[in-house]
Amino acid sequence: MAKCALITGITGQDGSYLAEFLLSKAYHVVGMHRRTSIENFDRIEHIVDQITLVQGDLLDQNSLEAIIKQYRPCEVYNLAAQSFVPTSWTQPLLTGEITGLGVTRLLEAIRIIDPSIRFYQASTSEMFGKAQTVPQNEKTPFYPRSPYGVSKLYAHWITINYRESYGIYACSGILFNHESPRRGLEFVTRKVTSAAARIKLGQIAELRLGNLEAKRDWGYAGDYVEAMWLMLQQDGPDDYVVATGETHSVRELVETAFRCVNLNWEEFVKIDQKLVRPAEVDLLIGDATKARTQLGWKPKVSFEKLVEMMVESDLRYFSSAGARPVR
Ligand code: NAP
Ligand code: GDD
Repeated sequence: MAKCALITGITGQDGSYLAEFLLSKAYHVVGMHRRTSIENFDRIEHIVDQITLVQGDLLDQNSLEAIIKQYRPCEVYNLAAQSFVPTSWTQPLLTGEITGLGVTRLLEAIRIIDPSIRFYQASTSEMFGKAQTVPQNEKTPFYPRSPYGVSKLYAHWITINYRESYGIYACSGILFNHESPRRGLEFVTRKVTSAAARIKLGQIAELRLGNLEAKRDWGYAGDYVEAMWLMLQQDGPDDYVVATGETHSVRELVETAFRCVNLNWEEFVKIDQKLVRPAEVDLLIGDATKARTQLGWKPKVSFEKLVEMMVESDLRYFSSAGARPVR
């Protein structure tokens, strides 16, 4: 019988790539999504008939227990979160409830119903925040700089605590920024690639951004979901940094994206102080030696290739009304 995996956050960027990856490994994929007034399946439209979709919410304990009881997954990937850093300042309590406490709800459901379930928690390089070492690895001290980062740090530690207290195979993947044509439009990479495409197509005239000096270690989401799966296939549970080991500033990102459409970015980009964050994470660069050596994982898509892929997808998307980002 096919192995069953539950993915929370199936409608998100990573949920869609992980679902594809697990289908390629012949899993029965159960995807949890929250009830919305209009269906939000754009990213999974192409696989919707190959997976089982079920309604549930990280805010609702009963729904989590009912799903685990009904489907009895052997692996649970918790990708659901309020994942946008700026929203975490305007909605800090909701962010804490979903991104932080929501993980305890899910772990409690696993502990009560079937503690043999293998659990993946979507942790983040935002936990390093005001980074104490360069590059950052599994031993780097944490210093989160937003309610999002603080909530994720709680989730990271509760995952480790359920592993150590109850012997649950619970892993935390400390993933650095990863992007794709399916990235939400509010995150800086997609904001920039969509604007470069739309300016080229004559649809908009400018792009407003905040801090151009922040540096991130940007990889491709399609590469990163494989690391999630690998973490749950080992002899024992552990925590891993997943990153490319390269860092680029937002300024370099903008230059690269506008170069793809043969435009000079300086003519179109305006700085908007409203987009500057109350506290910034200045520099992230990951050291994924442990993932490379223990999981045999490595990234395949370079920064330049990633930006090019996103710009090309956005050119297609915005030039044909009703089109979808490439699969
Ligand atoms: P995303 O596109 O924002 O997806 C988040 C998912 O969580 C969506 O499916 C969303 O559903 C769902 N969700 C939100 N609140 C929920 C709730 N109360 N109950 C159930 N589901 C809920 O994020 P992503 O980029 O795929 O990232 C996946 C995970 O990895 C997140 O936990 C994120 O924080 C973490 N992470 C991401 C990165 C990155 O660079 N992408 C790096 C490190 C860690 P709706 O569609 O209904 O909103
Ligand atoms: N979103 C956004 N919009 N960011 C901007 C802008 C803008 O107009 N202008 C400059 N930036 C800068 C931000 O200040 C930040 O330093 C950087 O671009 C990246 O911002 P985001 O793309 O919003 O991502 P993030 O790094 O804050 O968070 C993402 O990566 C984390 C992993 O480190 C999210 O996916 C998180 O969920 C994830 O955990």
